[in-house]
Amino acid sequence: MKLPSHGSNPHYLYEALGLNLPEKYIDFSANINPLGPPVAIKENWSRFYQDILTYPDPFATKLKQLISEKEDVPTGSLLMGNGGAELIALIGRMLAGKKVLIVQPAFSEYETACKANQCEITYYQLFGPDFEWSLDDFLSKADKVDAVFICSPNNPTGIQFPPSLIEPIVRECEKHDCTVILDEAFYDFLDDYQSFIPYINQYTNLMIIRSMTKMYAIPGIRLGYLAASPSVITKLGRLQPHWSINSVALSAGLLCMEDESFVRKTIEFIRQERERLFYFYQDCEFQVSPSKVNFYLLRDPYCEDQFELFCYLLQGGIIPRHTFNFPGLEGKWLRFAIKSKVDNDQLMEVLEQWRMSHPSFS
Ligand SMILES: Cc1ncc(COP(=O)(O)O)c(C=O)c1O
Repeated sequence: MKLPSHGSNPHYLYEALGLNLPEKYIDFSANINPLGPPVAIKENWSRFYQDILTYPDPFATKLKQLISEKEDVPTGSLLMGNGGAELIALIGRMLAGKKVLIVQPAFSEYETACKANQCEITYYQLFGPDFEWSLDDFLSKADKVDAVFICSPNNPTGIQFPPSLIEPIVRECEKHDCTVILDEAFYDFLDDYQSFIPYINQYTNLMIIRSMTKMYAIPGIRLGYLAASPSVITKLGRLQPHWSINSVALSAGLLCMEDESFVRKTIEFIRQERERLFYFYQDCEFQVSPSKVNFYLLRDPYCEDQFELFCYLLQGGIIPRHTFNFPGLEGKWLRFAIKSKVDNDQLMEVLEQWRMSHPSFS
């Protein structure tokens, strides 16, 4: 049985499991802002027609300028990407044949990109129910590699690794010329985030990936950026196809960034829903990862195997993300996005039914 390696596009999942996709279902497998894109995207939709009539700006000058002002970073330290996924693929090419350490569990594209470029891959596995680090063990592994991938806030757990942990790692890695790739695709869902981007001025071995498709709910048009030292940006830019970021994505990116209240509104909504859901999970004795963002891991601690719960939910039209292809998780957890109130209510209702038929015995 080969399950899809990413969330979204649920028909592939049902097909792989030999199940019928119900007429009504809720997809909790993709971690996209449940409020949808900023209103300006819809309101200006017809304007995008003009955009497709010309080639996009290959230097993404306006958008880079806006990000540069917001993040207080020179435009020469920014590279726009056709989604964070393209930037990961480019980094994979830059690391061709090198030794790479991936902090697991993590987004599967790091491994895919590195494998495609014949990198020698090792893992550092976070441990325990709270996915903890042993810095000494980690550094002894990082000592032997050319690059380290860290995903924070972490996909799939939703846990944020604080700057007080990351900075010493970057500093230690710099001593032996080891690149640290920090994927912050979900940073903008955190309610107490302090930007790590200024550190790129201090550490030339640090690269920070950002995605704009999650917060702004535009995964279909692909947009992300990388912040790193200008020499790294130049090197990666040479590997990128010309006009890689289409003109609709560039225009949409500008509109998204202009709406500052949208991010604050989203963070507040997600925080409230996360609290509501986690209160329910505690009450019904489900175990969850200590997430700080718009998705989390969940398991029924009274079941050895979560596959039965997974199938039960799918049959009830609730689509979680399986975790079989996250090293260290191997299906022992399910991942859920935080969605609208109505959708989250529906999830809690189905999980309550499950709990009634699978009592916790406490
Ligand atoms: C941690 C992480 N990084 C990067 C990406 C790529 O995002 P995108 O290519 O949509 O910007 C994803 C997508 O799920 C992700 O989860």
